[in-house]
Amino acid sequence: MEKDLAEILISSEQIMARNAELAHDIVADFQDRPTTVIILSNGAIIFGADLVRQMSIPLELDVLSAKSYTGTRSRGEVEVAQELHVSIADRHVLVVDDIFDSGLTLSKVVSQLQTHGPREIRTCVLLNKQRPREIKLQPDYIGFPVEDQFVVGYGLDYNHQYRNLPYIGVLHARLYTDTAE
Ligand code: IMP
Ligand code: MG
Repeated sequence: MEKDLAEILISSEQIMARNAELAHDIVADFQDRPTTVIILSNGAIIFGADLVRQMSIPLELDVLSAKSYTGTRSRGEVEVAQELHVSIADRHVLVVDDIFDSGLTLSKVVSQLQTHGPREIRTCVLLNKQRPREIKLQPDYIGFPVEDQFVVGYGLDYNHQYRNLPYIGVLHARLYTDTAE
């Protein structure tokens, strides 16, 4: 897998250190509130699993499946499998995603969750792509800014591969079959 990468952008150690800071900030804001963390799968399962294990407060945990990408391109529409196993009515909700790109995924998920009567919804992403976007929503907690390029690892995939890399990297351009422009 490593040989497919042009560059490692963020090391495993950097991610772990930043996760601890994020968890600290989140706990400071959520403590003493009925907290529900919703991890968006598949991309955020690894980040979310590491993050919640650093959050030393009682919380309920669920996973929602959200999908918007094929290859390295957003399809511009988001599918959310709306099957929460917990009630978020009157709860303080933290939605965790891997990367904020167009912002469509998080804003669609947040607006769907709003219909379930939460007290508050905040959002956390590991990566924030530096790009212009029309979406108004801004994530409340951000791990790292990244340039507007396609990244993989630590949950992020290219056609379902590379999610298990322990760091964030950039693939060799020769591996993309759908970016010739
Ligand atoms: P958005 O809806 O455009 O903000 O896209 C967010 C989703 O697209 C994320 O949850 C990721 O799953 C996926 N995505 C966006 N950029 C990348 C990337 O650079 N690598 C891998 N997946 C990405
Ligand atoms: Mg995703």
